[in-house]
Amino acid sequence: MHTVAVLSLKGGVGKTTVALGIASAALRRGARTLVADLDPQGNATATLDPPYTDATLADVLATPVRDVLRQAVAPSAWSPEVDVLVGAEELELLNEPGPEDDQVGNLSRALDELHERPLRGRPYELAILDCPPSLGRLTKSALVAADSAILVTEPTMYAVSGAQRALEAIERIRDELNPGLKAAGVLVNRLRPRSHEHQFRIAELRESFGGLVMPTAIPDRLAVQQAQGACSPIHDWHSPGAQEVALTFNMVLAKILRSNRAGRHRIDRDVAETPAESTGPVPRIARTADDARR
Ligand SMILES: Nc1ncnc2c1ncn2[C@@H]1O[C@H](COP(=O)(O)OP(=O)(O)OP(=O)(O)O)[C@@H](O)[C@H]1O
Ligand SMILES: [Mg+2]
Repeated sequence: MHTVAVLSLKGGVGKTTVALGIASAALRRGARTLVADLDPQGNATATLDPPYTDATLADVLATPVRDVLRQAVAPSAWSPEVDVLVGAEELELLNEPGPEDDQVGNLSRALDELHERPLRGRPYELAILDCPPSLGRLTKSALVAADSAILVTEPTMYAVSGAQRALEAIERIRDELNPGLKAAGVLVNRLRPRSHEHQFRIAELRESFGGLVMPTAIPDRLAVQQAQGACSPIHDWHSPGAQEVALTFNMVLAKILRSNRAGRHRIDRDVAETPAESTGPVPRIARTADDARR
């Protein structure tokens, strides 16, 4: 099982859209997937639309045992191949730093349990962690549990500084708590390819982060919002815009799976046969544009 955290420093840049897009690509590829909704807003849960559960991720983070997991994980309305570890408003209470910081490993423990003894059906090949819009305790839990992390950003003026701070957070967790954690890349969302401003911002990101910026950006398409509103995987939404977005998510998924060389959990089947790609440890980050040129 490969576990990928989807995070950003800012709200509303497309974390949930990316988490759902990757889940949709995984479903199309036939990879059994778990989406864990760490956001108290519960947007991923709303679009995946599982049946009511007696427990939520908030309960799992407090008590990461099998009985609680069994009550907090449900199949999505998309397919029995995509399960949801459901989000809830109560997660907000777990986002502030507290004395029980040992709980930061509880999501990791829960995923270990699911990996070792699947609840039902085939084992998961992929777990996607949709983070809230902050680098608080919930995102920290996700980074402790993850094999890799995707940073989502929009091509705007503050993208470089936001990505830099998020990459530093990944570095910190890697150094202190999760040595296997890798940055799978910086993913630009809501690209309008004809916008000079967007092209300029992407060039700026590449100057600072080089190959860490994913070659594929997610275009800004109305179909994304339509599919989410209809609780549908983007791959099932039949419009040219949706198909374009779906294709980019296929590429993002392939890149994530290729990055999994030394994850905590062994990789599965066909994924293991894919050649390695240089997503390695987080590179040293240029602090200023001048540093970047040196
Ligand atoms: N590529 C896109 N094209 C069109 N609309 C998009 C795209 N990406 C995201 N959106 C829309 O932008 C809004 C915010 O996206 P999303 O909820 O994925 O962001 P988020 O980072 O998860 O937000 P939050 O920080 O609140 O969790 C949503 O309405 C979503 O449908
Ligand atoms: Mg979200």
